[in-house]
Amino acid sequence: MRVLVIGSGGREHALAWKIKQSPLVDKLFCAPGNGGISQIAECVDIKSDDIASLTAFAVRNKMDLTVVGPEAPLSGGIVDKFCANGLRVFGPSKEAARLESSKVFMKELAKKYGIPTAKFEVFTDSEGAKKYIKGLKGKFVVKADGLAAGKGVVVCSSKDEGIAAVEAMMERKIFKDAGKKVVIEECLEAEEASIIVVTDGKDAVPLASAQDHKRIFDGDKGPNTGGMGAYSPAPVVPEAIMDAVMKDIIKPAIEGLRKEGIKYTGALYAGLMIDGSGPKLLEFNCRFGDPETQVILPRLKSDFVELIEASVDDEIDIASLEWDERPCVSVVLSSGGYPGEYKTGFEIDGLDAFEKMKDVYLFHAGTKTADGKTVTAGGRVLNVTALGSDIKDAIDKCYNAVNFIEFEGMHFRRDIGYRALNRR
Ligand code: AMP
Ligand code: GLY
Repeated sequence: MRVLVIGSGGREHALAWKIKQSPLVDKLFCAPGNGGISQIAECVDIKSDDIASLTAFAVRNKMDLTVVGPEAPLSGGIVDKFCANGLRVFGPSKEAARLESSKVFMKELAKKYGIPTAKFEVFTDSEGAKKYIKGLKGKFVVKADGLAAGKGVVVCSSKDEGIAAVEAMMERKIFKDAGKKVVIEECLEAEEASIIVVTDGKDAVPLASAQDHKRIFDGDKGPNTGGMGAYSPAPVVPEAIMDAVMKDIIKPAIEGLRKEGIKYTGALYAGLMIDGSGPKLLEFNCRFGDPETQVILPRLKSDFVELIEASVDDEIDIASLEWDERPCVSVVLSSGGYPGEYKTGFEIDGLDAFEKMKDVYLFHAGTKTADGKTVTAGGRVLNVTALGSDIKDAIDKCYNAVNFIEFEGMHFRRDIGYRALNRR
């Protein structure tokens, strides 16, 4: 089988790495890929949101299966376009991807189908939103309706902060049309976890639980990022919570969409807040998580391509997954300055050391190969990932491996996995 992976991050390196292990795969392509992916797949220089060129490439090169990593092409309709061209593709249609591309759509679906989520109001004008904020007490959250590269959510501790967020989104239009509507919701304060399922629109198979670390600095301080590290499983999700997530959140969402005439296939990611009263839905993403995928896939013993095909072929009910019991931890090494401005093009030292390490995996994100050297090419650069006999062993292995890597301005968190450690 000829398989194409779309994207260029650490998630896509992990996807490509796992897909490559399947005996079903003869040839693996990735568009556009990165320095690490180029070592295991043929990289094609097409951007992940250039849907027309990707479709033409997949038709011309007779792809048997395409796996889409990021949200932009999904919400841009890549699955619809591929299907219209007779191509097999894993992911939701443009309409189904609205679960991620419109927070208003997601919240209204949750309300209609009784999915537990923070109480909210929707505003289409800034005056109404500001007036509402003036009547609030305590913390609350302002969210731009559309995609805003992970920057569209502001947790506000004061009315002034909330009003500033509304003015930036709705009056100064910093996220363009994504801020035409805003959701203002109750602030939930508990521990977060990510549950990702693979679905064919009828049934859903959960992957192992995970937790990511969104803030840039230790102790969950500083601005939000795409994710600075992750671990799986998340001890905050015992079996009873997993059952509740499937029964009260995932199933009603998939069934609710079906009742609205929308079939959801692909990966569905639920971002959850878990307190004593059970799981509450913070957000849906229409794809695999990044960096969650980097800690989930090393634990998956089953053939990942069979799982992907079961989603594409409407056969998820027959899929069953086997997991490595050992925990997995991943630490992101980022460019100095990220998530603000940063420089790229610095040579990365120490990559060779990883070839000899057991149960340690190096997933590349923002890297590229130039003149035989690997250099930094993005904000998040590498994901150093390790399986361990327990969470402490996985964390230790990970940080020992991190010590081998060096590039100018390198930053990483030193406390990845601390919540899981504290729960032991
Ligand atoms: P989202 O883009 O909706 O995932 O939100 C990004 C992050 O904002 C989440 O992972 C949470 O850390 C935080 N967040 C979102 N909604 C809420 C909420 N209602 N209460 C507290 N934190 C929230
Ligand atoms: N790790 C958060 C995300 O993938 O959106």
